[in-house]
Amino acid sequence: MPEFREMAKVTLFGSGNKGGATFTPAKDIPSLAGKVVLITGAAGDLGRQTAVELAKYGRPARIYVADLPRGEAEKKAVVERITREAYESDEKDKDTTAPKTDVRFIDLDLTSFESVRACAAEFAAQEERLDILVLNAGIIRVAKGATKEGYEVHFGLNYLGHVLLAKLLVPTLEKTAAQGAEPRVVVVSSEGHAMAPKGGIQFDNLKTECAAMDYSQRYGQSKLALIHLTRHLSVHHPTLKIAAVHPGRILTGMADALKKESLLVKLTAPIAPFFCVPVSVGIVNHLWAATSKDVVSGKYYEPVGVTGKESALARDEALGRRLAEWTEEQIRGVEALA
Ligand SMILES: NC(=O)c1ccc[n+]([C@@H]2O[C@H](COP(=O)([O-])OP(=O)(O)OC[C@H]3O[C@@H](n4cnc5c(N)ncnc54)[C@H](OP(=O)(O)O)[C@@H]3O)[C@@H](O)[C@H]2O)c1
Repeated sequence: MPEFREMAKVTLFGSGNKGGATFTPAKDIPSLAGKVVLITGAAGDLGRQTAVELAKYGRPARIYVADLPRGEAEKKAVVERITREAYESDEKDKDTTAPKTDVRFIDLDLTSFESVRACAAEFAAQEERLDILVLNAGIIRVAKGATKEGYEVHFGLNYLGHVLLAKLLVPTLEKTAAQGAEPRVVVVSSEGHAMAPKGGIQFDNLKTECAAMDYSQRYGQSKLALIHLTRHLSVHHPTLKIAAVHPGRILTGMADALKKESLLVKLTAPIAPFFCVPVSVGIVNHLWAATSKDVVSGKYYEPVGVTGKESALARDEALGRRLAEWTEEQIRGVEALA
């Protein structure tokens, strides 16, 4: 019952994508010539379309699609789809003089510290710079479970895996800043952070499956932690711009997973389009945070360019400090590449 109540509250009264700044990718994405981008979960709907729009309008040198390992043919298909969708349509919109983006797949399983480290090491072996890091991958409502290191799976994947990846890539981001660039980290949170359990984060249970919590609370605490991560990173890395976003409600692969599992989502499926926006609208949040000059580091944006919608728990500085301390403990010894 609490799941139904919290989901209904977010669905009916959350701000979704209504209002916010106007951002037209074709006009507002600046040239990204020579820049390097890494997007987690970029085989999924929002990550992939973000890659397409950045490649199409910004033409960075390279975009890394960091996603779950899969067969070579499937990786090639993901890369080819992004390249095709970026360059084979809308000929008239393109700046045909700029070189096309080289899109590359890089293995990343955020439920394993070893895989996160391998991903960061493989990236570092190929690149000297990183201009835009989008922490986009995420799960919602998967079966109760734990990551390889034993953390509740939403928290371990959505939050802790991303923390470790960010920590490992910060030296490259800062090196890029030292060359006069303004590197970005886009942290994809959610209005669902408001569904976190009482107190926000149940520290004593994080290294369990959190079996007593419903899925919305497990998802909520992971997305709440990402807003605190954004603020923490912005304080400790002032040469970087770091922003958290809620992309809106979008019918993506994530919604399919929800439909299979949640009675509420199944029942409201016929009217879901009234509450949801297309992928092309959802990713405007990602694109704005990745490229707009108006982004203020450390802030949570819901919808595009609008601050101040985070929950009281997301503003709770004591909770943020406790989370930062807990996090340091968990990743001590694995947060640097050899
Ligand atoms: N859609 C919405 O309405 C909505 C609303 C608020 C926030 N968001 C956030 O937006 C982000 C993108 O979601 P989406 O809607 O685009 O969902 P999606 O289509 O399901 O994409 C999620 C991506 O994450 C990948 N992923 C899953 N487990 C992973 C792991 N262990 N390691 C690395 N990557 C993994 C998935 O890979 P596979 O496909 O191979 O499993 C997929 O490519 C998520 O963080 C989500 O919380 C979405």
